[in-house]
Amino acid sequence: MKSPRSNMRSASRSKVGGTSASRQSRSPRKGRAHIRRPFVSATFAMTVDGKITTRKFAPVDFTSREDKAHLFRQRARADAVLVGHSTLKRDNVRLGLPAELREERIARGQTPSPIRVIVSNEGKIDNRLKIFQSGVAPIVIFSTHRMPKRVQNALHGKAILHLSKSQDVDLAGMLRILRRKYNVRTVACEGGATLFRSLLEHGLIDELNLTIAPYLFGGAGAPTLTGLSKEFLPASVHCSLSDMRVAGDECFLRYRIGRKNRATSKRRAR
Ligand SMILES: NC(=O)c1ccc[n+]([C@@H]2O[C@H](COP(=O)([O-])OP(=O)(O)OC[C@H]3O[C@@H](n4cnc5c(N)ncnc54)[C@H](OP(=O)(O)O)[C@@H]3O)[C@@H](O)[C@H]2O)c1
Repeated sequence: MKSPRSNMRSASRSKVGGTSASRQSRSPRKGRAHIRRPFVSATFAMTVDGKITTRKFAPVDFTSREDKAHLFRQRARADAVLVGHSTLKRDNVRLGLPAELREERIARGQTPSPIRVIVSNEGKIDNRLKIFQSGVAPIVIFSTHRMPKRVQNALHGKAILHLSKSQDVDLAGMLRILRRKYNVRTVACEGGATLFRSLLEHGLIDELNLTIAPYLFGGAGAPTLTGLSKEFLPASVHCSLSDMRVAGDECFLRYRIGRKNRATSKRRAR
């Protein structure tokens, strides 16, 4: 049950560190001209005890309508929306946008919806998933030679395939291809934890939008933002709070991700 207070009762926008965080977040590319890959912004919701789903990996149903709208708004900011194969399978999402956000994009001179990008090492992707029944935007799949031939044939005409010769997808290479071939400047990564963690470990996450939902799940088998968290990250990752908004019992946080300084980056995450 959602709290009756979850209806945007106390929405407030704050400034952090004396800078208008909202303004910063509207121009993520400023000052980052050296980056030859797109800006990558991840969006997640988690419980108060840090769980992003249940131990059965059920689709997210513990957040409010405002959070769903928030997810759509983050998606609408991007040129591409990116998901891992497990999230696609489990949530069976189309990765489209509501009509009003499509119209806003068109008014800004963008395509109606961001291109939809799927990552899978094994490539055993079911062409009957809902995403392949919806033509709102091109679908681009990054996988490897391990993708079975029958899957490649079944996806013919439904998605553009980038199959590398390596065992695993090179995520940095994938981002460079998105920039170069598809003119993608901003990527909205919508999980899940395995993909987020890989991107994080390779220093490929620039921003994190995190909704804290008013629940506690417990459960050692339920993943956190970085997965089942059996292993420490190679180094701690510094998150700078750039925006915070409270709506009902939910808190919407935005962090800039990056290593604070060399000393911090060398510190082991423990
Ligand atoms: N609370 C939230 O905001 C939120 C957001 C998103 C998802 N979720 C939940 O999270 C769960 C899924 O998360 P997850 O961690 O299990 O899966 P995930 O990250 O969505 O997908 C993992 C799969 O993606 C592919 N993949 C991941 N990293 C890769 C890499 N570096 N290179 C190539 N392929 C890579 C692999 O696919 P192959 O196995 O095909 O090789 C891997 O098995 C679901 O229950 C979903 O509902 C919650």
